[in-house]
Amino acid sequence: MTIKGLSMVAYTTISKIGQYKDQEVTIKGWLYNIRSSGKIHFLQVRDGFGFIQCVAVKAEVREEVFDLCKTLTQESSIEVRGIVRQDERAPSGYELTTTSVKLIHMAEENYPITHKEHGIEFLMDNRHLWLRTPRQHAIMRIRAEITRACREFLDSNDFTLIEPPIITPSCCEGTSNLFKIDYFGESAYLTQTGQLYEEAGAMAFGKVYSFGPTFRAEKHKTRRHLNEFWMLEPEMAFVDFEGNLELQENLIEYIVKSVLKNKPAELKAIGRDTEKLENVKTPFYRLSYDDAVKMAQEGGFDMQWGDDFGAPEETYIAEKYDKPVFITRYPKKVKAFYMKEDPERPEVVLNADLLAPEGYGEIIGGSQREDNLEILIRRIEEENLPKEIYEWYLDLRRFGSVPHSGFGLGIERSAAWICGLEHVRETIPFARILNRITP
Ligand code: 4AD
Ligand code: MG
Repeated sequence: MTIKGLSMVAYTTISKIGQYKDQEVTIKGWLYNIRSSGKIHFLQVRDGFGFIQCVAVKAEVREEVFDLCKTLTQESSIEVRGIVRQDERAPSGYELTTTSVKLIHMAEENYPITHKEHGIEFLMDNRHLWLRTPRQHAIMRIRAEITRACREFLDSNDFTLIEPPIITPSCCEGTSNLFKIDYFGESAYLTQTGQLYEEAGAMAFGKVYSFGPTFRAEKHKTRRHLNEFWMLEPEMAFVDFEGNLELQENLIEYIVKSVLKNKPAELKAIGRDTEKLENVKTPFYRLSYDDAVKMAQEGGFDMQWGDDFGAPEETYIAEKYDKPVFITRYPKKVKAFYMKEDPERPEVVLNADLLAPEGYGEIIGGSQREDNLEILIRRIEEENLPKEIYEWYLDLRRFGSVPHSGFGLGIERSAAWICGLEHVRETIPFARILNRITP
């Protein structure tokens, strides 16, 4: 069956061009760049699937085709016909010997993103166009592969996708960074995490996950914080603290392997050192919070037992490892109310943050959840949270409470690490960061 919208009969895509070696094909795309001499044009064409060089030789094409090439502006949309030639030097491995070019739309002259260097703010202002460049193209494809691998891993391990609401009446990860909205005269918030709903899901379906946008009104100006980011949140009934870590390390290994296997050209395009990624194999390291504090102190950081790690401390610790490292059992008072107290040491909780290597810091936050009704009520009171709003959540401990665990994996931080990028803003199609809401 041919699906009309996907039909490759009339034209092919650059990604599939290798199937047509020495044959004539048509591609539809945009002119990324052009170099010309009197007798030859080198058109760099992109079609959304890849980039390819199309060579138009004066003596070999019709005159009007050669003249049209001369007038083409950057980002004009065109249809190119040509013969596929293998070429070792070409990034895609192929080149097109052009036989004809048809104009679809002549782009205006003043395309903002030229082939010069541009400042980051300018590029972010033009994000809708910046996405067309090879580097951004590669990053977005790696991001998509990360998401695909996450879902494939969980779907094939019997998890059910359960979507939590985005508009919520309550908080979960602390009250200080909520985006407040007006819900028909009542206060509501954009979700910080789908976790509480995933816990309800786990009691109904055993193993569940959500993947969706989450919101934090943090006035951070760091390379790790977005105000809107995407989180994968698995939640599992009858899985304890250790089982939770095991799932996380296997998931991360699977993601990294998938990117290495399915996106080698993209990793190459952004210059990622893949040797470091090849090394990401289970088991990951486990370091107690207590030892991590000592390590930070020895590294000259001014912190005490009971403090949370800041980004510099996390970076320092993560840099000591060649694979991701779990930091386990944090003090209860720096973590959220739902985390289970360690029965042997009630001052700490059964949680772990997973730090990515190469100094990337936390990419996963997870824990075993408090399943005891009385302790959970006490924790809600200690944190001064409005108990009425959590009644439904407490029901999960009233009716067949079981040990259960879960975690949240930040897609952008994971992508920043896997791509080896300085800043998370390049890992999401349209970033929402401090002082930026456009485009
Ligand atoms: O550690 P967090 O806040 O955990 C939770 O929200 C839990 N309720 C998740 C769960 O157990 N289901 O966030 C989880 C991850 C972080 O490790 C980080 O990767 C990412 O989400 N994250 C952010 N990414 C970008 N910008 C921000 N402001 C982020 N805050 C958290
Ligand atoms: Mg966290």
